Amino acid sequence: MIPPVDLTEQFKQIQAEVNAAVTQVLAAGQYINGPIVQSFTEAFGQYVGTDHCIVCNSGTDALYLALRALNIGPGDEVITSPFTFIATAEVISAVGATPVFVDIDPDTFNIDITRIAAAITPRTRAIIPVHLFGHPVDMGPILDLASRHQLAVVEDCAQATGAQWQGKSVGSLSHVGCFSFFPTKNLGGCGDGGAITTNDPALADTMTMLREHGSRVRYHHEAIGVNSRLDSVQAAILAIKLRYLDQWNQQRAAVAQRYDALLSDVEGVVRPQAPNFGQSVWNQYTLRIVGSTADGQERNHIQQKMREAGVICMVYYPIPLHLQPVYESLGYKPGDLPQAEAASHQVLSLPMFPELDAARQDTVVATLKQVLSEVGVKAAQYC
Ligand SMILES: Cc1ncc(COP(=O)(O)O)c(C=O)c1O
Repeated sequence: MIPPVDLTEQFKQIQAEVNAAVTQVLAAGQYINGPIVQSFTEAFGQYVGTDHCIVCNSGTDALYLALRALNIGPGDEVITSPFTFIATAEVISAVGATPVFVDIDPDTFNIDITRIAAAITPRTRAIIPVHLFGHPVDMGPILDLASRHQLAVVEDCAQATGAQWQGKSVGSLSHVGCFSFFPTKNLGGCGDGGAITTNDPALADTMTMLREHGSRVRYHHEAIGVNSRLDSVQAAILAIKLRYLDQWNQQRAAVAQRYDALLSDVEGVVRPQAPNFGQSVWNQYTLRIVGSTADGQERNHIQQKMREAGVICMVYYPIPLHLQPVYESLGYKPGDLPQAEAASHQVLSLPMFPELDAARQDTVVATLKQVLSEVGVKAAQYC
């Protein structure tokens, strides 16, 4: 079986370091807010290049805390992509605001920057661009729009730790950057974790307060907050992994480049395109099965056949957020955001992780070619 991600191989590389660091934390007995949490926080903030970094429990909490600190709530609208993990929109709803979905660019799968202006209303308070699959969003036009309309920009960097836009790290480009350390992310812990980055001291202060039960001084609570800390054990593991992150991201880029070469003559698929204005960190290598039917059945069939042949591919994401049952009340209909809908019927993510070697990549591609020829994918009906 070739899995979509294999975390065990990475662990083997750093096992001795991780064992020593975890043992040290366990022996020291400070499992919450220990010195390792502080030093990892500083190291991660430096890596992203912001003045402030606040670590927390998950990428979802990072986004939630950012919106809370920006005082976004009932009556407000927040613009984001419909083609992302639910957490991006979920937090908008969790603070009582309304998500407004803008269709995606078919080439990058990221929010279509040319369509954002038309979605701005007097209620719009923020934009959440998502650097999906590791590819940075082209931030320039978004930052211009935001400053013209006095909107906040919160980058969802969950899938893009280490990616760059015009030479700067994602998460340092806007008001707030939100990161996930979920195990399969580019910088993944051995459990949940997240971080928030910002250059705004007031926002940093509010997010820190909200993260600690709305408290700056112990047992003195000034807001309804949450408990969202990063465990010391996770911080110790992440501190080790951070030192390898650039190397692992380069290995991912090499895997992507090799897939590109191996797939260059394969009909019926469109390869993912890396942006020319920045650097992707290839969290996913996501193809389009261009001839797939509008209900995604053909793509699903290909996924199933690949699985039977021992290659597990994933579908991120089979239903765009505007058509999720939970958002029925927003009133979107099929056809409203055609690019996101087409993507959800066509995408297929091939196995992607830094340690994926040439032999297994060859097997993935040979299996895909075989399955495509059996299924007979041809015409680009839904490009
Ligand atoms: C784009 C995106 N945003 C937010 C999140 C939420 O991160 P977490 O799982 O750490 O809460 C994820 C994680 O899957 C994600 O992929």
